[in-house]
Amino acid sequence: MREQLETLQQEAIGLVEQATTQKELNDVRIKYLGKKGPITEVLRGMGKLSAEERPVVGEIANSVRGAIQERLEARLEQVKEEEMAAKLASETIDVTLPGRIKRVGRPHLLQQVTDEMEDIFVGLGYTIAEGPEVEQDLFNFEMLNLPKDHPARDMQDSFYITDEILMRTHTSPVQARTMLAAKGAPIRVICPGKVYRRDEDDATHSHQFMQVEGLVVGEEISMADLKGTLEAFVKRMFGEAREIRLRPSFFPFTEPSVEVDVSCFKCGGKGCNICKQTGWIEILGGGMVHPHVLEMAGYDSTVMSGFAFGMGIERIAMLKHGVDDIRHFYTNDVRFSEQF
Ligand code: PHE
Repeated sequence: MREQLETLQQEAIGLVEQATTQKELNDVRIKYLGKKGPITEVLRGMGKLSAEERPVVGEIANSVRGAIQERLEARLEQVKEEEMAAKLASETIDVTLPGRIKRVGRPHLLQQVTDEMEDIFVGLGYTIAEGPEVEQDLFNFEMLNLPKDHPARDMQDSFYITDEILMRTHTSPVQARTMLAAKGAPIRVICPGKVYRRDEDDATHSHQFMQVEGLVVGEEISMADLKGTLEAFVKRMFGEAREIRLRPSFFPFTEPSVEVDVSCFKCGGKGCNICKQTGWIEILGGGMVHPHVLEMAGYDSTVMSGFAFGMGIERIAMLKHGVDDIRHFYTNDVRFSEQF
């Protein structure tokens, strides 16, 4: 009887050690310790034993049962831990892996500068007008006092589609279009956009670039208004300490015409490499709208007057952000773009 029970114990414990799942352990429990198991059977048959044998067998049976139970429980704890460990291992997240970076886009620097310029002029009461990039000779030249064969066309006789249609060479045709549409009413607009010009591409020139045109028409608009407006713009764009100066110039559609410089923001006017030792940096052209241009657009030039100006956006962006080559704007190298 004792041998039989001890063999059972060894058998059961052997199975317990081999078991790797909770289910297997449960099967062992039912098989050896269950109601129909061999140990229960032994205990049940105790009645048939003699009074001397009974306590001895009972003790052995109980100790076998206790031993099996103990191993079972210990192994069950192990198995639970192993199962948990396996589960965790299968769900592991390696937090040291590099993340997937979401690249967030942003407006191109030229768009940012355009937006900034628009904000400044909208703040001064201007609205924004746009015109086509494929333009008629009529608006690009003729309505601006540049009749066919006028020598001042030479610099801008550029990309023609037909004899009468070309890529606009400046944003000034939007002046003519806006004046015609206004039918004699006052105007205060800026016109940003792309322009196209025959140019040798280099660090500061491109055959395609951007301009912002400004046009104000009304009664008693004077050169002082032009100067005050540009001064306000320059201080907002480049800082309160900046000053402007006007130099005489020529454009067929303005009279008088000026070239406008801003005091150098790097050296403050002393002279440096940015301002080519002059203390001043040229930023735009402008002037009083030529009476003939007003008349062609239907205005009475004895009552109405106006000023206009045009500036290159790339130039403003290069000056403001220290960009040393205009071609950076167009080559779409993110190492450049993401700096702004
Ligand atoms: N359109 C001129 C240019 O491209 C600039 C300009 C605009 C000058 C408006 C006077 C008035 O050079």
